[in-house]
Amino acid sequence: MCGIVGAVAQRDVIEILLEGLRRLEYRGYDSAGVAVLDAAHQPAPLQRLRRLGKVQALSDAAAEQGLAGGTGIAHTRWATHGEPSEANAHPHVSGDIAVVHNGIIENHEGLRRELQAEGFVFQSQTDTEVIAHLIARETAAGQPLLAAVKAVRKRLEGAYGMVAVNSQTPDRIVVARSGSPLVIGYGIGEHFVASDQLALLPVTRRFAFLEEGDVAEITRQSVEVFDLNDQPVVREARESSVEHDAGDKGEYRHYMLKEIYEQPQAITNTLEGRLLNGQLNLEALGDLSDVDSVQIIACGTSYHAGVTARYWIESLAGVACNVEIASEFRYRQPVIRPNTLLVTISQSGETADTLAALRQARAQGITKTLAICNVPGSSLVRESDMTLLTRAGAEIGVASTKAFTTQLAALLLLTAGLAERRADAAAVQQKIANALATLPGLIQQTLGMNEAIEKLAERFAEKHNALFLGRGDQYPIAMEGALKLKEISYIHAEAYAAGELKHGPLALIDAEMPIVVVAPHNDLVEKLKSNIEEVRARGGELYVFAGESAEISSADNMVVVPVPNCDDLIAPIVYTLPLQLLSYHVAVIKGTDVDQPRNLAKSVTVE
Ligand code: F6R
Repeated sequence: MCGIVGAVAQRDVIEILLEGLRRLEYRGYDSAGVAVLDAAHQPAPLQRLRRLGKVQALSDAAAEQGLAGGTGIAHTRWATHGEPSEANAHPHVSGDIAVVHNGIIENHEGLRRELQAEGFVFQSQTDTEVIAHLIARETAAGQPLLAAVKAVRKRLEGAYGMVAVNSQTPDRIVVARSGSPLVIGYGIGEHFVASDQLALLPVTRRFAFLEEGDVAEITRQSVEVFDLNDQPVVREARESSVEHDAGDKGEYRHYMLKEIYEQPQAITNTLEGRLLNGQLNLEALGDLSDVDSVQIIACGTSYHAGVTARYWIESLAGVACNVEIASEFRYRQPVIRPNTLLVTISQSGETADTLAALRQARAQGITKTLAICNVPGSSLVRESDMTLLTRAGAEIGVASTKAFTTQLAALLLLTAGLAERRADAAAVQQKIANALATLPGLIQQTLGMNEAIEKLAERFAEKHNALFLGRGDQYPIAMEGALKLKEISYIHAEAYAAGELKHGPLALIDAEMPIVVVAPHNDLVEKLKSNIEEVRARGGELYVFAGESAEISSADNMVVVPVPNCDDLIAPIVYTLPLQLLSYHVAVIKGTDVDQPRNLAKSVTVE
């Protein structure tokens, strides 16, 4: 989704801003823009440049026009209000003021009418432009930029992270955060701001995260932060542990493939210190002995991790578990039982709906919250009582891969923690520990299926639809497989619990419909075989990822691809891999933008 970068320095910041935008490209965007000021001149001319399309187009234009300045703001836009176009790209300018903004201003229509009645002329269809005019109205009345932003934020409803500059005072930028993350980067005699620390890693490793409602004024020498009540506050700067080269594809053609191949290491990292010499160390989870039920909330792929975990938590820990999509949970009045542990799952920790659902649950009296998250310091982590970091490393490809499998590994650890009250806790925990210990090796072995799957992918490239089937804890894996295929190859795909076939979807089966089945050798495999026969009898084209010992063989209209045998417990994680590889290769054959699929954003910070 939209990305923000800002800088105040003695040196020219244009390359810092553009490199920052490049590092945020993975989040998805449709246009990019930059505005710079030369702090040596007061007032300084405001130089703005915007381009539809890629950051490279903006960068080429900036070089051609010799854009330069010591203070600047830059943005990648993912259209919400108004089509993708140069006129709608940020920064938006009003008089001396330029603004970039992430999020949505919900009351923008009323504000637009108010400003138009006063003679302000709008150049774009965006909600952001009202912010530029509102700030310009304040500064024209004599308010310094900081006071203007403080006044304006009281008029804004919705979620935003914004950065503003004033060409009358080119030595400073002012930033405000409400619902959309912003991080301040500390250099020596220079300061930066961005919506994600990844953007600033080439220039600094010291970061302070702004809290909800914060406004900050940033100059080369100082950073002053004010909280929601306009009181000065200190937001401590800390050294980041994020890898500098996280944005590097290395030998891989796409980030997605790199991240698929990183899964053995990512899972090893998730388990580090939590699985020692074959024994679980669950200290970090704290005391879960009073937990009577679990409510999981998440979106997209993270939701699928939650649905998988419900099978584990109920069958292994014996604790009631409910799972819900965050955007639904937040707008109904759920009945939450006493002693419920609320678990949020999120790669980014900034997903607007998941955060809102967490806040909503807290307002309803939930007192124990756990975030399973990949980004230390993210909003979700900071607002939860407990955290289980997945430690997958930066995930750049929009399609979630290693984040998902590490979430599943973390959820097995949580299951082991919740099993503590069972009479046979030690045995259950040891069973989980034994299975997890084999996981990195098994994942490595499963990656060996890549070549076979690459060949299989050719059969999908011309298809318009696909069905994914699974039973039990493989049903959410089928859901995840369908989501992966649709988001990167644009093939319409749906998942069904195989037992549901005859309640409707069987009507879809014909020779044009590929049906992907996940079939480990477990206690449901015989049931699944009957479902496979139902499909075959109707001429469906089957692709079955089957456990080596499941005794399912290739036949007419049925290709069986063997998957290494594994413990039932971790089969959902192992069977995710072939589905990731399948969608990846189909997308490559179709020539889609694998890492930045159309219309999608990596971090969904608006609802
Ligand atoms: C799909 C995908 C999305 C995310 C969803 C939640 O591949 O990546 O469905 O899983 O937007 O994002 P997080 O996990 O950051 O809350």
